[in-house]
Amino acid sequence: MNIDQIFKNNQAWVNEKLGNDPDYFKNLSNGQNPEILYIGCSDSRVTAEEIMGVKPGEVFVMRNISNMVSNLDLSAMSVIDYAVSILKVNHIVICGHYGCGGVKAAMQSKDLGILNPWLRNIRDVYRLHREELNTIDDEENKYRRLVELNVQEQCVNVIKTADVQIAMRQGRLDVHGWVMDMASGKLIDLKIDFEKVLEGIMEIYHLDKDEIDLK
Ligand code: CO
Repeated sequence: MNIDQIFKNNQAWVNEKLGNDPDYFKNLSNGQNPEILYIGCSDSRVTAEEIMGVKPGEVFVMRNISNMVSNLDLSAMSVIDYAVSILKVNHIVICGHYGCGGVKAAMQSKDLGILNPWLRNIRDVYRLHREELNTIDDEENKYRRLVELNVQEQCVNVIKTADVQIAMRQGRLDVHGWVMDMASGKLIDLKIDFEKVLEGIMEIYHLDKDEIDLK
């Protein structure tokens, strides 16, 4: 990849946008009003806007290795808080993908240095679901299922945050779990039954803004 080419591509894109609408960038610079927060993998093949066919201004995006939502990750917590409380998005999407290198690495017993604590979160997903995963003999199918379960658990992590719980109770926010199948290019809605998933765990994670007494 020639870095100079990127600036040429950019100029061509600017020209194309202005050709269609001379006020395009003037309008874009007026502010953003996205309705979706997309949390996906950093994988170079899973390009959020392109696979969803959305334009600049339509989706607030966070990407990291294996689309993780860790409550100790200041970046993730800030993104979610900003998206829900300030931008007031109506949807949060966690999008994983089959063939995810992070998920594959987490299935191996290798010391991966700084990646260890990050991928340990995926190992925790494995531990939570090992009964189901251990019934799958085929390694490839097990790997695909772990990708899906990781999406599910990251959705649960999103729902553990107070801002999201309050917005969901107000009926102004939905959470969705998706997987992108690289082999076909298709986005798959996992249609996670959150009521069922959250049953029994919300008694632990339920948060309210009022009646706080920690003394
Ligand atoms: Co990935």
